[in-house]
Amino acid sequence: MDTETLAGQQAAPREAAARKVFVKTYGCQMNVYDSQRMADALAADGYVATDAPEDADLVLLNTCHIREKAAEKVYSELGRIRDMRELRARAGRETLIGVTGCVAQAEGQEILRRAPAVDLVVGPQTYHRLPEVVRKARAGEKVVETDYAIEDKFEHLPAPRTTAVRSRGVTAFLTVQEGCDKFCTFCVVPYTRGSEVSRPVAQIVAEAERLAAAGVREVTLLGQNVNAWHGEGAANGVKTRQWGLGELLFRLAEIPGIARLRYTTSHPRDMDDALIAAHRDLPALMPYLHLPIQSGSDRILKAMNRRHTAADYLRLIDRIRAARPDIAMSGDFIVGFPGESDADFEATMEIVREVGYAQAFSFKYSPRPGTPAAENALQVAEAVKDERLQRLQALLSEQQAAFAQSLVGRRIGLLIEKPGRHPGQMVGRSPWLQPVIVDEKAGGIGDIVEVRITRAPANTLFAEPV
Ligand code: SAH
Ligand code: SF4
Ligand code: F3S
Repeated sequence: MDTETLAGQQAAPREAAARKVFVKTYGCQMNVYDSQRMADALAADGYVATDAPEDADLVLLNTCHIREKAAEKVYSELGRIRDMRELRARAGRETLIGVTGCVAQAEGQEILRRAPAVDLVVGPQTYHRLPEVVRKARAGEKVVETDYAIEDKFEHLPAPRTTAVRSRGVTAFLTVQEGCDKFCTFCVVPYTRGSEVSRPVAQIVAEAERLAAAGVREVTLLGQNVNAWHGEGAANGVKTRQWGLGELLFRLAEIPGIARLRYTTSHPRDMDDALIAAHRDLPALMPYLHLPIQSGSDRILKAMNRRHTAADYLRLIDRIRAARPDIAMSGDFIVGFPGESDADFEATMEIVREVGYAQAFSFKYSPRPGTPAAENALQVAEAVKDERLQRLQALLSEQQAAFAQSLVGRRIGLLIEKPGRHPGQMVGRSPWLQPVIVDEKAGGIGDIVEVRITRAPANTLFAEPV
């Protein structure tokens, strides 16, 4: 997955005295969101974000544990940062090194053993204590803070800073739910992010209002199981019955300035009627749904503990498409789960053909410590996984290109996000999340303009104003 840094997204006051923090983000969108919240929390202590690690007094790696490769990358990066710290030390400058995110949670103290240069380790449920941890580390203490939420971190984290939000652009992430109780047998998330917790409605609305006031037009609600979100609703100050994500989306759409809403990632078992109805009745909700199935084989789905069949998934998609015919489907797939036969893999290819995905992510199964599937004796050979992944990805790319091509000639609403790579161009996103390039005369950043798609080479669309 992509890694990115935070600077450039944050207007940095140019004070010589300011301490600098470099945050490198691995993994999912929730880590991107968390990195921003951590930078905001540290800003109160005078830390300014930088995208030059060699300038940073504090380097944070916000890590991902989902597959072995993702987790191992962290240790090679720590080696590079240690070398950089030595160079800085020769110039008389100190550097603190911190590991946050899911590797921090999964490995804790072990990180200090493998990488003694690390000064602090902070898990995702304890980010509100980061400023205090950094103060202790600056005083020379090695700190590991991975104790499970004793208090609600969101109540203690400072709100997103207006200047930072403005510099990050017109789209924003907002975590509404964190953790997972599903325990798919391949997955570390229930161990690294803890059990499922939903943020209260009032907290979410307040944060969304703040984002809107800072110019955000599109909000993507995040959760490991975002559609399992639930909370106490409120009308005219009176508490109402429990809301699901559908009701929350309607509430957020009322906020002036918020024009577009998205949510990710959903589990098929938690797609309720109200949420499906929102796709029909709420114009602000974009017609795009990331709904992972992982495998098309019922035998493998059972071994994965997904608790639904391929037929259940297809029926669900029929209902969603009945509500919103132009919805684009996205998914995640794992090939080479223990015991996966040729026939099981063919069932995955078949479900992909039946659904027709606009976008998808596919991975080779990676055994993860502490998960049941890692203990399974029927591990699939690497070469078999490679071959299956190639075939699956070829099919998925074909579908993605066909979907993009099907949009040529169509009029769409385009949210303009930033200048394009070439002078005179602007880039935005289609309702289906594809990047769209348009002439700058079409409108300015934050405008939603009517355009017609003219061509669709690969997954980037070109459009002209109408
Ligand atoms: N519900 C989560 C899923 C997180 S993991 C969410 O909010 O996104 C994202 C994807 O990584 C999963 O859907 C799965 O396809 C893949 N994945 C998880 N564990 C994996 C493993 N051990 N090996 C390979 N891929 C894995
Ligand atoms: Fe992992 Fe499954 Fe939970 Fe998704 S639903 S986070 S894949 S355990
Ligand atoms: Fe990775 Fe943790 Fe996200 S393991 S995918 S960073 S929830």
